[in-house]
Amino acid sequence: MPVVLSAAKDPGIYFPRNTEMLGGVPPEQTAEVLRFAQDDKRRAQHDNLVFSSNLQSVQWKAEISRGKVAEGENLMGNLAITGGKPVRRKPFPAWPIYTRDEERGLEKVLASRNWGGYPFPNKIADAFAQQFARYHGAKYGLAVASGTVAIEIALKAAGIRPGDEVIVPAYTWEGTVGPVLMLNAVPVFVDVDPDTYCLDARLIEKALTPKTRAVLPVHLAMRFADMDEIMRIARERNLVVIEDSAHAHGGKWRGKGAGGTGDLGCFSFQSSKLMTSGEGGAVITSNLEYYERAQSFMNCGRASATDQFRHRLIGFNYRITEFQAALLEAQLRRLPKQAKIRQANMNYFEKRLGGTPGVGFLKHDPRQTRVAAYQYVFKYSPQSFGEIPRAAFLGALEMEGIPCDGQFYEPVYKSALFPADPNDWPALSWGRSEPLDLRGLYHCPVSERAAYEESVWLPHHLFLGRRKDVDDIADAVLKVCGNISELRGLQHPAIERKSMSRAERPRVEKRQY
Ligand SMILES: Cc1ncc(COP(=O)(O)O)c(C=O)c1O
Repeated sequence: MPVVLSAAKDPGIYFPRNTEMLGGVPPEQTAEVLRFAQDDKRRAQHDNLVFSSNLQSVQWKAEISRGKVAEGENLMGNLAITGGKPVRRKPFPAWPIYTRDEERGLEKVLASRNWGGYPFPNKIADAFAQQFARYHGAKYGLAVASGTVAIEIALKAAGIRPGDEVIVPAYTWEGTVGPVLMLNAVPVFVDVDPDTYCLDARLIEKALTPKTRAVLPVHLAMRFADMDEIMRIARERNLVVIEDSAHAHGGKWRGKGAGGTGDLGCFSFQSSKLMTSGEGGAVITSNLEYYERAQSFMNCGRASATDQFRHRLIGFNYRITEFQAALLEAQLRRLPKQAKIRQANMNYFEKRLGGTPGVGFLKHDPRQTRVAAYQYVFKYSPQSFGEIPRAAFLGALEMEGIPCDGQFYEPVYKSALFPADPNDWPALSWGRSEPLDLRGLYHCPVSERAAYEESVWLPHHLFLGRRKDVDDIADAVLKVCGNISELRGLQHPAIERKSMSRAERPRVEKRQY
C-alpha cells in the first residue's frame, strides 16, 4: 500500500506522499496534480480534514509505472486516513451542556448586581461550596478560582512550608505539581500503578524522607489511587493527604466522595471537566483549622468567618465569581444523571472491545464504589500491532471521526511545561551540595510507557449520548485495529498532531479545552 498523504477534492486525482512518484504522471497532468496536492496539504495541516471524494475508482499511473502496485489494484485503503469512508461524520454531544437552569442562574446574578467573590464568602459561592463538600462527604467547602489554586490553597491550609517534601504521581497534569513549587516546597515524583495509572501506593514508602510532609494522590481519568494504603502510610507517618480530584467529581471510594477520605480534596471546574464554570475550582475538608487557613489564604489574608484558630497569613485573591457559582449549582444538579449515562455507555464500550488483541483496560477496583470518568482511558499495545506507534493509531481513529488523545499527559518531570529551574525555586538547593535536578533525577517506567506508548484518552462527553455513538467509537477502534497495516510508514498531519506534546499543540489546535 503506497503512502497517501491526502486526496484532492476533485474526483479523479489524488496524491501519494512521495512527490518523486510524480515522475510517472503524464507531463500534461503534473502541474495540476501538484497544485491539488499543495492545496490539499495546506488544508490538511490546518484542519482535521476528512477526505470524501469518489476516489475509489482512481488509478495511480505513476505507482504502476514504478512497479509499486499492480495495474487495476485499488490504491485507496479502508481506513479514512488512507482514503476510505470514515465510520462517523456526525459530531458527538457538545460539551459543556447547559439548559434554562444555567441561564436562569446567570440572569439572577446579573440582576442582583452582586457579581464578585467579595464580601467573602459570597452567597451563591458559599451555598454551592457547602453543598459540593457535603456531596463528597466533607464538612466544609470553598469555591475558588481554579483547580491549580485549589491545590495551592490546600497545601497552604495544611501548613506545608518551604523545603517540605510532597509526594506526587509522576503521571498527571502539571497543575498538580506547580503549586508545590509555588510554596517553595519540593515535589517528589513516584511512579503510577499500571492497573490504574494513579499514584502507586506500594512505592510511596521508598520515597519518604524526614522532610516528607504530604502525599498528593491524583484520581486520574476514571480510577482512584489506593486510598486505603495511602491513608495507612499517612497516619503512620503523620503526613497530610490532599486528594487531587480534578477528574473525579462525584466519584466514590468505599462509599465516600472523592476528596473526602484524605485531609483535603481539590477539584477543577475548567471547561473540559465533569462540571464546569469555564474556569474554577473547589477545596473541601472536614478539618476546621484547615478550612479557616484556606479561607484566609484565598481571601487576601483576611480572618476566616469563624476564626477559632486565629491564624494570620499573607493571602491572595483566589475567589470565584457569583456567575461561576450559579453555573456550578446547575451543573451539580445534573451530575448524577450524567454519571449514570456515562457509566452505562462506558460499560457497553468495554463489552464491545473486550478480548480485542492489543487493546487493554484499566482494572476495576471494587473499593471504588462509584466511578467518575473524566476520560475513558484504555491501553493500546504497539507490540501487538507490529510496532505501529500509538500516534498512527490515534491519527487514524480521529480521521474515523472519533476525537481522541494519547499524550494527554507526560511524566511531569519530562514535560516542556515543567522547566523547573532551581534558580527559581530555592528549596531545590537547600541543604544540598548540588541543586535537585527534577528533570534529570527520575525515571518512572510505567508513567513513561503510559504517556508515550500506550494510553488512549477519549473525552467523557463522547459517552453522554446514545448507544449508537458508543457503537461508532467501538466500530472505529476495531476498524483501525483490523486495518492497522495500512498505517505502516504512513505520514499524515493527523498523525503528526498526535505525536505532539501539550506544550506544542496550541499552534495547531483550534480549540483546546
Ligand atoms: C489532575 C489535575 N490537577 C489539577 C488541575 C488544575 O485545574 P485547573 O486547570 O482548573 O487549574 C487539572 C486541570 O486540568 C488536572 O487535570
